[in-house]
Amino acid sequence: MGSLKGAMKVEKLKEGRHTETRQRWVKVPLKILQEGKVTVLLPDEKVLGSEAAKKVLFYNAFTAFSRDFSLCFLKTYARLKGRPIRVAEPLTASGVRGLRYAKEVDEVREVVISDINPVAVDFARMSVALNGLQCKVRVELSDANEFLSAHGVKGGRFDVVDVDPFGSPAPYVDSAIRSTLIGGVIAVTATDMPPLCGVYPEVALRRYGGLSLRTEYCHEIAVRLLLYLLYREASKYNLSIKPLTAHSTRHYVRVYVQLLSTKSVGGVGFLYHCFKCLHREVVDISDVGLRSTLCENCGGAMKLAGPLWTGAIFDKRFCEELCATLSMMDYLSSKSSLKKLLSLIVAEADGPPTYYTLSSLSRVYRIREPKTQKLIERLRSQGFYASPTHFNFKGLRFNGRISELLNFLMS
Ligand SMILES: C[S@@+](CC[C@H](N)C(=O)[O-])C[C@H]1O[C@@H](n2cnc3c(N)ncnc32)[C@H](O)[C@@H]1O
Ligand SMILES: [Zn+2]
Repeated sequence: MGSLKGAMKVEKLKEGRHTETRQRWVKVPLKILQEGKVTVLLPDEKVLGSEAAKKVLFYNAFTAFSRDFSLCFLKTYARLKGRPIRVAEPLTASGVRGLRYAKEVDEVREVVISDINPVAVDFARMSVALNGLQCKVRVELSDANEFLSAHGVKGGRFDVVDVDPFGSPAPYVDSAIRSTLIGGVIAVTATDMPPLCGVYPEVALRRYGGLSLRTEYCHEIAVRLLLYLLYREASKYNLSIKPLTAHSTRHYVRVYVQLLSTKSVGGVGFLYHCFKCLHREVVDISDVGLRSTLCENCGGAMKLAGPLWTGAIFDKRFCEELCATLSMMDYLSSKSSLKKLLSLIVAEADGPPTYYTLSSLSRVYRIREPKTQKLIERLRSQGFYASPTHFNFKGLRFNGRISELLNFLMS
């Protein structure tokens, strides 16, 4: 990591609009950072202070994990596709993600990266040159929706579109779908966890089209609401989605879905949850009017989340391929944590929707908290489906009823 001084052109934007009004040259201290196999130029936060550096250009070292996962994903997808692919990253910031796609995945023929921040675009262009990637990476200064819409035409669509914004991706999903090839993949990050996790359900309804709920498995609900948004936006065009993988890490959730040409109404419904006894039920959208809102286990009133995606959120075979790819990526700095994450994902991939947490079971039923792994083994030995989950290290996926689980816990 080094530090150097450089002059950066800063173009001021009119508030709320994308028109350039005036230009000035300011001196921005620069630093060089290595991530994966690329080198990126960033504003030097040691000189500027971290807040000022963030205002110039966004770069988060903690999300290198998300980028490592994305690299593993793209390598796998490209390998299975078996032909050169094109990728778009319309909210690129420093360009690090797009640069890594171009450098680290041999099958990538072209990456087009774009950002609305002209300073970010300048930095990204310099980093492209620094890595000698001019023949593979194109950088544009554009609003994400304008950029994606311009590519949403025959010959312009991408194999993979990666939407990684601040907060909610909801404003970009429609244009991301229009600019993705059938059979291609849309990777989407959401960081607006308070709405998605049930703190502000009505905000989730506005952004994602479904109500969130503050349960012990609210991070899974977050993933399901995000998938529902993708499903709904794709349905408008008579397309459907196939979730390949997803993860909830730190302050964000991220999903990877394949766009399919088939029409589909399956995989959508509501989740009913009883806070009194922790019983929960997935109700298909067509059965909603037929279902009582009283808990069939304890008679209490059930709360509702959705509409949301109720189908599978992982494709087990694809996730196994991710593990195989990862085993060949020794250079990744987060290889060992990714390996743990992927093995949990493979373990839970075929499990039923929602999970219990041992802490909420012990709080509601006033029992000693059992060890997750021991409980899983006992449940399996009795013929139940039981698995851990990457969403919560004290989580348990289980295909029986809450009363059956309690029998186990109490015995
Ligand atoms: C979270 S950062 C992207 C981080 C990046 N993907 C990475 O992995 O490091 C979000 C970026 O979106 C850009 N942005 C915000 N609104 C935009 C819009 N309407 N169109 C294009 N870019 C936008 C911001 O300037 C910022 O650089
Ligand atoms: Zn109940």
